[in-house]
Amino acid sequence: MKKRVLQGMRPTGKLHLGNYLGTAKGMLTLQEDPAYETYYMVADLHGITTPFDSKRIGPDARNVMIDYLSIGLDPEKSALFIQSDLADLHAQLAFYFSSMVTVARMQHLPTFKEKVKQHPDHVTMALLNYPVLMAADILIYKAEMVPVGLDQEPHLEIAREIARKTNDIYGTNFPEPKRFATSGEYVPSLTGEGKMSKSVEESYISLTDSLDEIKKKLAGAPTDSGKGEKVPEIGGVANLLKFVELFEGTDARKNYEQAYKGQGIAYRELKENLANAIFKELKPIQEKRKELEHKTSYVDEVIKSGAEKARKIASETVKEVKEKMGLL
Ligand code: ADP
Ligand code: TRP
Repeated sequence: MKKRVLQGMRPTGKLHLGNYLGTAKGMLTLQEDPAYETYYMVADLHGITTPFDSKRIGPDARNVMIDYLSIGLDPEKSALFIQSDLADLHAQLAFYFSSMVTVARMQHLPTFKEKVKQHPDHVTMALLNYPVLMAADILIYKAEMVPVGLDQEPHLEIAREIARKTNDIYGTNFPEPKRFATSGEYVPSLTGEGKMSKSVEESYISLTDSLDEIKKKLAGAPTDSGKGEKVPEIGGVANLLKFVELFEGTDARKNYEQAYKGQGIAYRELKENLANAIFKELKPIQEKRKELEHKTSYVDEVIKSGAEKARKIASETVKEVKEKMGLL
């Protein structure tokens, strides 16, 4: 039997290179692997765990779906759906699971603490329950593989704990889901500090950026004199070299490292080459996106049939858990 894969992205803005390399590339790899059956959703229910605009969340969710299709996710191969179309099942299972998780465990998660800092006036029950809903998203398909970035590991640990506990108490057979890591599992920020994130201005390149915008953003990335005895391992230069590795390959990176210890790196040239390499990868995605923006009924059809496919599996799991918990 094929192993199942589940992944979701929140509709909270444009996708950037961190999302693309850390997650989307993994989604594509698994979609093309005949050993896996892939379920990819837009996590709009998770979108309401932090402050949101009720006029934007719908169109934004649709935009993520268009992004999915633009990067090459294929409704013939993957179930592509919107989480809230199955809210009755995902939220139901999350509620069952929440009876097995303590409040203290949730409050101590680093992801929760971070969000509390970001939105101190919006510490809601939905936010506290975020990882439980995510566990339900994954386990409702009995998915074994989840292609997400490194920052999501604590959430996967919760999903594994919930799987074990439910199996122990109620005799279910949930697998313990693992993270599928890509070579871009941690894409650094352009600012030289931390990871690329949409919540940090100047840190990211969007999938929709033009060549000029990419050049402008790279121009602002911090550098140094271009030479020295040791190639920096953290900071702006280290991050630029990571981008070179991700978009131009390890040989290109090695050449720059040698140059650093010898005649020096000309950053203007490095940034010019890097911008071209990044845009080369993004151009076909942007072209596909333009096409899809006019194909409203096609996108509607993808969303509808994806939800139908997902519902078949999800409803079986919810029925099973409800029965095993002894509910009538
Ligand atoms: P952001 O940090 O920009 O808000 P999200 O939290 O919405 O991004 O992340 C969506 C997905 O993209 C997750 O699977 C996450 O692990 C992945 N991701 C986000 N930023 C990066 C990054 N800089 N490097 C690798 N993966 C990332
Ligand atoms: N927490 C994920 C993020 O911030 C989004 C998400 C929701 C998710 N449900 C999921 C990811 C299930 C993987 C599987 O990116």
